[in-house]
Amino acid sequence: MGRIHQLPMSVVNRIAAGEVVERPASVVKELLENALDASPTRIDVALDQGGVALVRVVDDGGGIEADDLPLAVTAHATSKLKVAEDLERIETLGFRGEALASIAEVSRLVIRSRTPGGTGATITVDGGRAGEVRPDGCAVGTTVEVHQLFGNVPARRAFLRAPQTEWSHASEAFVRTALAHPAVALSLVHNGRRVHDLPATPSWRDRIAGLFGAEVAGRLIEVEADDGEVSVHGYVGRPEDDVASGRLQHLFVGGRPFRDRSILHAVQEAYRGLLLSGRQPIAFLAFDLPPDAVDVNVHPAKMEVRFREPSRLYRLVLSALRTKFLAANVTTRLQPPAAIAAEVAEFQPFAPSIPDRFAAPGPRPSWPGTPAGDDRVPLADPPESLAPPAWELDDAARPVAAAERAVQMHDRYLVVETAAGIEVIDQHALHERLLYEKFKTAVEAGGLEVQPLLVPEKVDLAPAELELVHEHAGTLERAGMRIEPFGGSTVIVTSKPALAGDTSAGAIVREVLDRLASTAASGGGTSMLVDEVLHGLACRAAIKAGDRLSEAEVAALVRERRIVAESHHCPHGRPTSLTLSRQDLDRQFRRT
Ligand SMILES: Nc1ncnc2c1ncn2[C@@H]1O[C@H](COP(=O)(O)OP(=O)(O)OP(=O)(O)O)[C@@H](O)[C@H]1O
Ligand SMILES: [Mg+2]
Repeated sequence: MGRIHQLPMSVVNRIAAGEVVERPASVVKELLENALDASPTRIDVALDQGGVALVRVVDDGGGIEADDLPLAVTAHATSKLKVAEDLERIETLGFRGEALASIAEVSRLVIRSRTPGGTGATITVDGGRAGEVRPDGCAVGTTVEVHQLFGNVPARRAFLRAPQTEWSHASEAFVRTALAHPAVALSLVHNGRRVHDLPATPSWRDRIAGLFGAEVAGRLIEVEADDGEVSVHGYVGRPEDDVASGRLQHLFVGGRPFRDRSILHAVQEAYRGLLLSGRQPIAFLAFDLPPDAVDVNVHPAKMEVRFREPSRLYRLVLSALRTKFLAANVTTRLQPPAAIAAEVAEFQPFAPSIPDRFAAPGPRPSWPGTPAGDDRVPLADPPESLAPPAWELDDAARPVAAAERAVQMHDRYLVVETAAGIEVIDQHALHERLLYEKFKTAVEAGGLEVQPLLVPEKVDLAPAELELVHEHAGTLERAGMRIEPFGGSTVIVTSKPALAGDTSAGAIVREVLDRLASTAASGGGTSMLVDEVLHGLACRAAIKAGDRLSEAEVAALVRERRIVAESHHCPHGRPTSLTLSRQDLDRQFRRT
C-alpha cells in the first residue's frame, strides 16, 4: 500500500459524508476492510464484551510506514485515492481516509505496524489526541486495537445496547466480510472463546460451509447468469430449507457486502409460491460488473451501493433463480413443478390445475411433471408408517361440542361447517398456533413436559450456531431443549418438549437458533427469547401443508381450534382460518 497523504478538499467534498462509527460492528467492519486492503494472507479478530471493551484486528498485510502513522489517524488522509477521478473507479474497500480518524475520536486507538522493509512502530490516540510515534518490535503487518468505544462520549455510549446485542451485530459484520473474502484466512474470538476459525480457500462454498456448517452449504444450489455486462454467481437454498429470518441472505459486489431491497425482492419473487409467507430463502449472490456501472460512494458507512441500471440486476437474479429451479426440478408441497414451468416461461401468476379431492382413501393426487421416485420432491405419498402428528387426541379430557363436519382439502386446508357458516382452516398455521399455545401455557404454568431422549440426537452446527447454543443454554432449557457439547462443532440434544413429538432435533435446533439470533440482534429480552424458541419449536413440530390427515386427526385439530380462539397470547404469524358466514353466502346467492 502506498504512502498516506491528505486529500484535497475538492475530493473530500465529493465523498458521501455521515456517521462512520455507530457501534462496535462498525469498528469491526472498518478495521477488517483496512486489513483486507493491505493484501494479507490472514486476519485475526478478537472482541471483548461485544466489542464495547475491545476490538482487536491483526493482519499480516503490507503495514504502514512509521512516519505515516500520524497521517493514518488524521481525517481525510488515505493512501488509496489521489484525485477526484479515482472515485469513479474505486478498487479498494477504503477510499475516504475517514475510518481510523473517526474511530480514534471516540475511543482509545492503538496501532502497531511494520512494513516489509521498515521498522515497527506504534501510535496511541486517546479521544482524538494522538501521542508520539514510538518504535515497536512487531511483526510485518498491522495490529489495531480499539479500547472502550465511546468511553469519552457518554451520550453515545448510552445508545449502545447490551454487550450481547452488540456482539451479535459485530459477529454479523465479521461473517459478511468473511463471506466476501474466502481466499483470506480469518478467525474471530469473543471474550477469549474462539467462535470462527476459517482457513483460506479458493471455494466460496467451502467458506459458506466454514461459517454456516457443511450440511447447509452442501445442500445449496449453485446459480450463475450473465447478461453480457452484468454477471451473478452464487448459491441459493432449496425452498424446503427456508429459514425464519433474512440472516442468510447476502449480496456482494467487488468484495463488498451491500444491502439492496430491490435485489432481495427479486430473490423473494423467484421463490414466490415455493415458501410460506414470512419464511425466507437462503441466498448468497456475488455480482460482477464494470466499475463505472456501480457507485460505492453513496452511503457514509458504505452499506449500500448504487447501480446504473438496477432493473438489469433485478431481471438477471429473477431469471437466474427461476431457470435453475426449473432445471433442478426444485419444488415443494406448495407449488407443483408445472406451475413453476409456466411461470418461468411467462413470469405470470400461477394457475395450477390441482384436482379437488377430499380426504378419502385412494391414491394421492399427483401433480403433472412430478418425476417418480425423485426424493428431492416431497410430493410423493407419505410412507404408510407415517407417524401421527404430535398433538394429543384428548377427547376424554373435555366435553366435546356437537361434532362439526370437517373435511381436508388439497392436503392443506380443513373446511368446517359451523353454526355461523363455513370456516376454512390452514392446517399448518392452525397446528403451529395450537402447539405454540400449549407450549406457552405450559411454560407459564411451569409445567412444560420434557421428554428426555433415550438416544440423544447428534447435530452438527455451524460455529456461529454453536456460539448461540452456548449463550442461550438457559433460554433453551426453559423451553425444554437441553443441548450439550459433544466435541468440535457437534452437539447432542438430550431432551426436547414432549409436545414436539418425533420432529428431528436437528431441524428444531437450527430453526430455534436462527430465531434466537435475530431476536437477540434486535435486543429482545429473556421472555422474548423464550417465546421465540417456542415459536420455532411449534413451527417445526407442526404438520405441514401436504400432509394427509386421517379423519380422527382432522376432527382433533378442528375441535382443538378453540384453544387458539380463546387464547390471551398475542398472535404471531399468519392467520389460521377464515370464515364465510351463512349470511354472506345467502347474500351472495341473492337468497335474502
Ligand atoms: N491494516 C492496515 N494495513 C495497512 N495500512 C493501513 C491499515 N489500516 C489503515 N491503513 C492505512 O491508513 C490509511 C487510513 O485508514 P482509514 O481506514 O482511516 O482510511 P481509508 O481506508 O483510506 O478509507 P476509509 O475511510 O474509506 O476506510 C489507509 O489509507 C491505509 O493507508
Ligand atoms: Mg479504511
